[in-house]
Amino acid sequence: MKLSLLACLVPLVVASAKPGAEIQQRRGANTTTLACNALKQAFSSQVFVLGDANYTTQNEAYWTPTDYLTPECVFTPNATLEVSTAIRIIAGLGATFAVRGGGHMPIPGYANTNGGILIGLTNLNEITLSSDESYVSVGPGQRWEDVYSYLEPYGLVALGGRVGIVGVPGLLLGGGISFYSNQYGFAADNVVAYEVVLAGGQIVTATATQHSDLYWALKGGGNSFGIVTRFDLSTYVSPTVCAGIIEIPSTEKDAFLNAVASFGEYGSADAKAAVIPSIFMLGSLNITVYTSALFYDGTECAQPALANFTVLPAIENSYGNTTTLATYVKGTDALIGDGTRQVFRVVASYANAEALQIVHDTFVEMVTADIWNVTGLQASVAFQPVTKNFIQQGINKGGNPQGVDISEAPYFWMVENFSWTDPADDNRINAFAQQVTDVIEQKLTAAGQVAEYRYMNDAGLGQKIFQGYGDGNVVKLQSIRAKYDPFNVYTDLMPGGWKVANA
Ligand SMILES: Cc1cc2nc3c(=O)[nH]c(=O)nc-3n(C[C@H](O)[C@H](O)[C@H](O)COP(=O)(O)OP(=O)(O)OC[C@H]3O[C@@H](n4cnc5c(N)ncnc54)[C@H](O)[C@@H]3O)c2cc1C
Ligand SMILES: *[C@@H]1O[C@H](CO)[C@@H](O)[C@H](O)[C@H]1NC(C)=O
Ligand SMILES: *[C@@H]1O[C@H](CO)[C@@H](O)[C@H](O)[C@H]1NC(C)=O
Ligand SMILES: *[C@@H]1O[C@H](CO)[C@@H](O)[C@H](O)[C@H]1NC(C)=O
Ligand SMILES: *[C@@H]1O[C@H](CO)[C@@H](O)[C@H](O)[C@H]1NC(C)=O
Ligand SMILES: *[C@@H]1O[C@H](CO)[C@@H](O)[C@H](O)[C@H]1NC(C)=O
Ligand SMILES: *[C@@H]1O[C@H](CO)[C@@H](O)[C@H](O)[C@H]1NC(C)=O
Ligand SMILES: *[C@@H]1O[C@H](CO)[C@@H](O)[C@H](O)[C@H]1NC(C)=O
Ligand SMILES: *[C@@H]1O[C@H](CO)[C@@H](O)[C@H](O)[C@H]1NC(C)=O
Repeated sequence: MKLSLLACLVPLVVASAKPGAEIQQRRGANTTTLACNALKQAFSSQVFVLGDANYTTQNEAYWTPTDYLTPECVFTPNATLEVSTAIRIIAGLGATFAVRGGGHMPIPGYANTNGGILIGLTNLNEITLSSDESYVSVGPGQRWEDVYSYLEPYGLVALGGRVGIVGVPGLLLGGGISFYSNQYGFAADNVVAYEVVLAGGQIVTATATQHSDLYWALKGGGNSFGIVTRFDLSTYVSPTVCAGIIEIPSTEKDAFLNAVASFGEYGSADAKAAVIPSIFMLGSLNITVYTSALFYDGTECAQPALANFTVLPAIENSYGNTTTLATYVKGTDALIGDGTRQVFRVVASYANAEALQIVHDTFVEMVTADIWNVTGLQASVAFQPVTKNFIQQGINKGGNPQGVDISEAPYFWMVENFSWTDPADDNRINAFAQQVTDVIEQKLTAAGQVAEYRYMNDAGLGQKIFQGYGDGNVVKLQSIRAKYDPFNVYTDLMPGGWKVANA
C-alpha cells in the first residue's frame, strides 16, 4: 500500500523538471507544509511535528543548544531509498530542508532549519565489515565511538574523530583529522566509496573509477553535492595504542610551548605519534592550563617523539599504558563539554615557534582582557600539527579538493573553541571570536606566518573556507556541483552548510 502511494506521488511531484518557484506560485501554497504533508502520507511513522516527543529528540540531537531551531517537520529515513523518495518530494515541491548527521557542527542553521524540513539521519546506522576486512561500510547515523567499538574485536581501526561522540558524515565531508592522519592523510582520503542520493533522487556510488569527479569532490567539498547514505572506509590494523591526556600548570608554559613548536617542526619524524596541544582558559576559576592528548599507534608508550611532553611536570597524566582506540575515546567523552553554547573559529599558520607564540600571546591576552567575566566561560585553542606526510598521503590516494600546499608544510591548523552558558552572552562571544581571530591573522600575516588553507570543520560562520583550497579546485568543485545538481537543490533549497557555489 505504501509503495503504490509512492508510485503515484513521486511521478506527480517530479513531473515538472525544474523544481521550485513556479509550483509554489501556481498553487499559492506554503511549499514546506505541502512537502511535510506528502512525507507524512508516504512515511507516516517517521515524520514528526512540534509536540511529538520524537520531534523534540531530533531537534535537540545537536552538540550545542545554539543549533536547536524550529523545523516545520522532521523526517527520519530508515533506508537510502526513503532518502531518495523524500528528495524527489521535497525538491519537486521546492521546499527548503536541512540534513543532520551527528549534529556536531556548531553553526546554527548549518544542519538544522527554521521553517524547513529537517532530515535526521539517526536511523541510517548500518555498520558492516567487508568479507576481506579491508573496508567497513558505515551509515551517516553513526558516531565514531561506535565505529571504533565495532572494529575493536577485529584489531582494526578506521580514520575518524579523536572525540567519540562526533558524527561520521560531517567529519568526512569536511576532510577529517584523525590520530592516524600523519600516517594516512585526512579521514576522507581513506574513503573508498560513497553512496549518494543526488538532487534528482538517483542513487549512485562514487569511487575512484565510478563517478570519479563526484568521489574527488566529496573528500572535502562539503554538502553541496548530495546526501551521502553510506561511506566505505579503509581499515587499518591497530589493535593496541597508547593514548592519554596530560595537563600542565601555567608555570610550565614556556616548556610546553617549546614542546609544541618542536613537535610541529619535527613531528613528522615518527608518523605514528600524534598530539592535540591546547591552551585551556577557564574564566570562572580564573585559571589557564595547558593540555595535550598524546597518542601513539603501537604497544611501546615511552616514545622519543612524545618525550618533550611527557617530561613536563603534570597536574594530571593519563598517558603511559596501552589501550584501544575504542576504549580511549569512550573514556574521554566525559571530558568534552556537552549542552553548553559553543562557537569555533579556525586559524592556520606554518608550524614554528614564532607563529605559536603570536597565537598564544594574542589569544590569552585578549580573552583575559575582554571576556574573562562571561558566565561559565571556557576558551581554548588547539594546535593541530599537520606534517608533510599527512598531505602526501592525500596526494598518493588520488588527491582531494583541499589541495593543501605540501611545499609549505608542516602547519598548525588551530581551532579556537569558546563555550559559555547564558544565551544573553551569544552576541558578545560571537563578536569577540571574530575579533580575536582577525587580530591573530593580522599578526600572523605581518610576520609572514599565515597559511592559506582553513579546515572547514573547525570554522565559524563567515570564515572563508573554499577560497583557501588549492589552485583551481574551487572552480572544479563548482563545475562538478553544477553537473550533479543543475537546479541547485543542495545549495538553494538546502541553504545550511559551507556551499561551493557561494565561494
Ligand atoms: C567535540 C568535538 C570534537 C571534534 N573532533 C574532531 C576531530 O577529532 N577531527 C575532526 O576532523 N573534526 C572534529 N570535530 C569537528 C567535526 O568534524 C565537525 O563538527 C563535523 O561537522 C561533525 O560531523 P557531524 O556529522 O556530527 O555534523 P553535522 O552537524 O550533523 O553536519 C555537519 C554538516 O554536514 C552536513 N551533512 C551531515 N550529514 C550529511 C550527509 N549524510 N550528506 C550530506 N551532508 C551531510 C550537514 O548538513 C552539515 O552542514 C569535532 C567537533 C566537536 C564538536
Ligand atoms: C521515536 O522515539 C522512540 C522513543 O525514543 C524511538 O524508539 C523510535 O525509534 C523513534 N522513531 C523514529 C522513527 O525515529
Ligand atoms: C524506522 O525505524 C524506526 C526506528 O528504528 C522504527 O521505529 C520504525 O518502525 C521504522 N519504520 C519503518 C517503516 O520501518
Ligand atoms: C511555511 O509555514 C511554516 C509554518 O507556518 C513557516 O514556518 C514557514 O516559514 C513557511 N514557509 C514559507 C516559505 O512561507
Ligand atoms: C586571576 O589570576 C591572576 C593571576 O593568574 C591574578 O592576577 C588576578 O588577580 C586574578 N583575578 C581574580 C579576579 O581573582
Ligand atoms: C624536543 O625538544 C628539543 C629541544 O627543543 C628538540 O631539539 C627536539 O627536536 C625535540 N624532539 C621532538 C621529537 O620534537
Ligand atoms: C598504568 O597502569 C598502572 C597499573 O595499573 C597504574 O598504576 C598507572 O597509574 C597507570 N599509568 C597511567 C599513566 O595511567
Ligand atoms: C565584564 O567585563 C566587561 C569589560 O571587560 C564590563 O564592561 C562588564 O561590566 C563586566 N561585567 C560584569 C558582570 O562584571
Ligand atoms: C575544540 O574543538 C575541536 C574540534 O576539532 C575538538 O577536537 C576539541 O576537543 C575541542 N576542544 C574543547 C576544549 O572543546
